[in-house]
Amino acid sequence: MSVFFNLTSNPLTLFSTTSRLETKPPQFAMTTKGVSNPSEPTQWDSAAAQYNDAVGRSSRIGATRLIAMADSLSPLSAADAHAIDLGAGTGSLTHQLASSFPAVPILATDISPGMLEQLMALNVRGSKITTQVADMAAPVGGEAAEGAFSHVFSTMAIQVLPEPASEGTLAQWSRLLKPDGVIAIAIWDFDEDCGPHAIWNDACRAVDPSYVPPPQLPPRSWTGCSQLEEGLKVAGFRDVQAEVTHLGFDVGKEGFLRFFWESGNPMTLECRGSFHGDLGKVRTEMERLLDEVYGGGSKIPLSAGLAVGRRPDT
Ligand SMILES: C[S@@+](CC[C@H](N)C(=O)[O-])C[C@H]1O[C@@H](n2cnc3c(N)ncnc32)[C@H](O)[C@@H]1O
Repeated sequence: MSVFFNLTSNPLTLFSTTSRLETKPPQFAMTTKGVSNPSEPTQWDSAAAQYNDAVGRSSRIGATRLIAMADSLSPLSAADAHAIDLGAGTGSLTHQLASSFPAVPILATDISPGMLEQLMALNVRGSKITTQVADMAAPVGGEAAEGAFSHVFSTMAIQVLPEPASEGTLAQWSRLLKPDGVIAIAIWDFDEDCGPHAIWNDACRAVDPSYVPPPQLPPRSWTGCSQLEEGLKVAGFRDVQAEVTHLGFDVGKEGFLRFFWESGNPMTLECRGSFHGDLGKVRTEMERLLDEVYGGGSKIPLSAGLAVGRRPDT
């Protein structure tokens, strides 16, 4: 695993997987009271082991569709295809891409060394996957060279950053692309029904009607597909196509309970920290809702916004 941070724009210090991580949160750290920083690497390090059991399942469904959309805009079977996955996590997209297009070299980047270690632990022998620890707010550097990639991918990650179009994130990402290269982004679509949040909120309110849930996302993040599509157009991407896809979070009752109470996912930690009553009662109510409203955890709604586009003309 290589390591790169753009030190001119980011206060993070260099580190390797063997050295201890001593870093400040990136420059976009949350300032809103009660909202933790989703770009704090250690938050994700501790979620890595169980990520694929629940959230990864939904991400992979979105990733499969996103790869097909990107391939139709610019074939991934082309001889010079070269992909980067920003905020790759445990590799929901990276592994799907490697299995469908084994000849394509893929650079998987993430701010969390723990997530990338898990990605490589799941790696198939002989694949062309390499990893680099990097902040996706300023990803150019190291193996992520300017103009090196035919395809820039990112799934379920860009929502940790505020206003990705107007604050320059997408401009940074487009620098990674060759002329006519393709950007392909997936986000959670919280403008659609979101089962995991609804189950938590309803369970809490049944125990304490005055409960106020934490924000689903950091301030000024994209919440749904229309913002993603508009953001790409504002940033100058061409031939933009976007769609909402239903993923479901159909992990079953036990799977949902494990995700919420044991996985260490930052979203669940945030939720649990925001409730000041009896969490045992919330869990009991959650079990009732899963049984009575969500088909025993087999019908939990969750959608993604997916969009692709071609690099802006320079
Ligand atoms: C919800 S997970 C998505 C992982 C994967 N792409 C997927 O679809 O399953 C969000 C990922 O974004 C990473 N992340 C958060 N802030 C980041 C940043 N500033 N730069 C790079 N990665 C970041 C986290 O470490 C985590 O792996």
